[in-house]
Amino acid sequence: MPPDQRVVVVGATGAVGLEALRILADLGLHSSRVAALASPRSAGTSVPFGTGCIPVHNAETFDWLGTGLALLCADAHTARRLAPVALRVGATVVDNSSAFRLDPAVPLVVPEINGHLLEDHPRLVANPNCSTIILLVALEPLRRACGVSAISVATYQAVSGAGLAGLDALHAETLAAASGLPPARAPDSPFAEPCAFNVFSHDSPIGPDGLNGEERKMIDESRRIWDRPDLPVSPTCVRVPVARAHTQAITVQLSRDASEEQVRAALARAPGVRVLDDRAGNRFPTPLHATGADEVLVGRIRPDPATARDAAGRCRRWCLLASADQLRKGAALNAVQIGRALRLIPGIGGPGGPARGRTGLTMAVE
Ligand SMILES: NC(=O)c1ccc[n+]([C@@H]2O[C@H](COP(=O)([O-])OP(=O)(O)OC[C@H]3O[C@@H](n4cnc5c(N)ncnc54)[C@H](OP(=O)(O)O)[C@@H]3O)[C@@H](O)[C@H]2O)c1
Repeated sequence: MPPDQRVVVVGATGAVGLEALRILADLGLHSSRVAALASPRSAGTSVPFGTGCIPVHNAETFDWLGTGLALLCADAHTARRLAPVALRVGATVVDNSSAFRLDPAVPLVVPEINGHLLEDHPRLVANPNCSTIILLVALEPLRRACGVSAISVATYQAVSGAGLAGLDALHAETLAAASGLPPARAPDSPFAEPCAFNVFSHDSPIGPDGLNGEERKMIDESRRIWDRPDLPVSPTCVRVPVARAHTQAITVQLSRDASEEQVRAALARAPGVRVLDDRAGNRFPTPLHATGADEVLVGRIRPDPATARDAAGRCRRWCLLASADQLRKGAALNAVQIGRALRLIPGIGGPGGPARGRTGLTMAVE
């Protein structure tokens, strides 16, 4: 990226945008090289960047000239409107919304899996749905080692998956319940049900096939990223009273038998995966372990007890528990990794230079 260009974060006041700014600051990007944009509602406020703050500009009136990379962290409608504006001034766009994910002309990228799609230097890249990223990063090492023929997954999704409004609802409802009030939905909650002390089917709309929007995304996007249009994927997506980081109970059917040693070895050396599987201590992936981490945590690694094992103990169906910070690897970090792979985010020492902070993975996938 030319030295006078900047990284623009749209939706900088939201859950994903704030995380993107945190990661950019951790990478050592100077505040003069980043611009924070949001709706007219937030124009004139400021957001944290590193040890200071930067102003929030109105995305409607912003002068986009000099933008090298635009990280869109707003809703799909805003993305459809602003992506062409950024592209017109020569910027590259990475979009976190669902606007372009199924557009055949737009690559849908998880760097650890299909980062080669960035070699053509696409100008518009879609960031997959958070649950899809977490699922596929956990399973990619097994796919490479043995092939994957089917996936069944149940999700336990944090309220911040619905943005800052989801977090606010959880806090307000928890405080109300702690003060003795009966569980009730907060007035401004994005959810139809109370989220504190409750578990409910994912808040996305249900289609005629009975799948909710999140489940449909996991199916469609997994098939697209792995280029397996017929891959059987059977998800059930559920919201739980967790602030941040999604958890998934996964059963995967491999194309070939594998031993537990093979499964563990594949996961242990995979980029973007950290195995947390302490049977003696009963310590496995949790949202609290995953919060703030770059990797997808994987544990509870075991053969499906309902499947046949051969004399050597090998089998095809394996059960895993995964947990990952959906605001980092499920959104902002994946987008920043794409920007870095495209050489559009300078770290200390210029593009591709060494980063500081905790984003070690950001380097590992370049
Ligand atoms: N949350 C997650 O875990 C997650 C994971 C993966 C992908 N995503 C996707 O990432 C995007 C952002 O999600 P979020 O959770 O960060 O939502 P959020 O917390 O509700 O934040 C939304 C952001 O979009 C901004 N915005 C709204 N209308 C705008 C406009 N007309 N022009 C410019 N900015 C506008 C908001 O600005 P104001 O503050 O001014 O309203 C705010 O900064 C969504 O597309 C979401 O589907 C979210």
